[in-house]
Amino acid sequence: MQVYEIKKDIYWVGAVDWTVRDFHGYSTYEGTTYNAFLMLGEKNVLFDTVKKPLTSDLIHRIRTIIDPAKIDYIVVNHVEMDHSGALPEIVDLVKPEKIFCSKMGHQNLLAHFHKPDWPYHPVEDGEEVKIGDRTIKFLETRMLHWPDSMFSYIPEEKLLISSDAFGQHLGTSERFDDEVDEAELLYQARKYYANILTLYSPLIRKLLEKVQEMGIEIDMIAPDHGVIWRKNPGKILELYDDWSHNRGNRRVLVIYDTMWHSTEKMAKAVADGVESEGVSVQILDLAVNHRSDVVTEVLDSKGVILGCPTLNNGLLPRMAGFLMYMRGLRPTNKFGAAFGSYGWSGESVGLLNKTMEEMKFDLIHDGLKIKYVPDHSSLRECVELGKLMARKVKEALD
Ligand code: FEO
Repeated sequence: MQVYEIKKDIYWVGAVDWTVRDFHGYSTYEGTTYNAFLMLGEKNVLFDTVKKPLTSDLIHRIRTIIDPAKIDYIVVNHVEMDHSGALPEIVDLVKPEKIFCSKMGHQNLLAHFHKPDWPYHPVEDGEEVKIGDRTIKFLETRMLHWPDSMFSYIPEEKLLISSDAFGQHLGTSERFDDEVDEAELLYQARKYYANILTLYSPLIRKLLEKVQEMGIEIDMIAPDHGVIWRKNPGKILELYDDWSHNRGNRRVLVIYDTMWHSTEKMAKAVADGVESEGVSVQILDLAVNHRSDVVTEVLDSKGVILGCPTLNNGLLPRMAGFLMYMRGLRPTNKFGAAFGSYGWSGESVGLLNKTMEEMKFDLIHDGLKIKYVPDHSSLRECVELGKLMARKVKEALD
């Protein structure tokens, strides 16, 4: 099977998952890859493995280069099953001398595979292992995004093997950033950050500061998903810095669900109001937009306006599910507002406001409720709500 030498004697031996379309609730329309790397030297080292159903891809790729039994060390940068699912079979095949992992990695490997007899070698943050003329320096990245997560840095190669960080769910036959469409790559990197890392933004800011303080030189970042950053690895570091600060752009989202199109009419009028003030707006109907695509847009939009009618004294289930998902990711530093049609009880706007308050969105309005079907004057109120949001966004960012 095809392998790729990413640095002298360091090979990509991972797997492309062409068929995955749902990654625990995150839509992966382009599939993904599970990247694993084999470094040859005085000791042969395998960094990470792949998802269990793709174990044979990994084994065949390793065999293309060396007999798997000749691997001495395995590094587990992260225990989540998309990178460790193949581990039991690989450990049986390789019989490694050592399995390097973080201390939390050790605990989590035991809790996943129940193999106390594996040759674990838990490492401290910053610990180095010398292998011939190369070094592996382990950098603990706890909660980015699991307690066990760590990076492996090879200073002689200026290579950072970054586990889930800087990844993209992009399944391709290309291995490097300069070989794929840049717009698609950056969209997938943004979607990945929005859906996996937003809630860890404060830790990401600290990590980026730490990397800068340590003066780590990087000319290649090899994440565990998607393509490898070699053309300009500084670009993804800059983007992570930007996203982690949650500054938001001059952009407003109108996210809604509708029952008999009344809330939809309101959504369009609200968006008209935003647009009339010269601010970019995007209307997102939850019936046709996947929640993970919607939170991708939330990441860098300064204003979020939510619309939902009342159903059974509550919200429509798609909106309720979206709010649960978005709240878990904790986007911050947003202006918020709510609207919706109702028939008799009309709780939906209050529930939308309550959720946004819990998320510490800055609510710019008490919320707009319209009985049954909006008339022209009701739609004028919606337009005014949009204008108000646009002016708030402009005041904050201009
Ligand atoms: Fe790609 Fe957290 O696993």
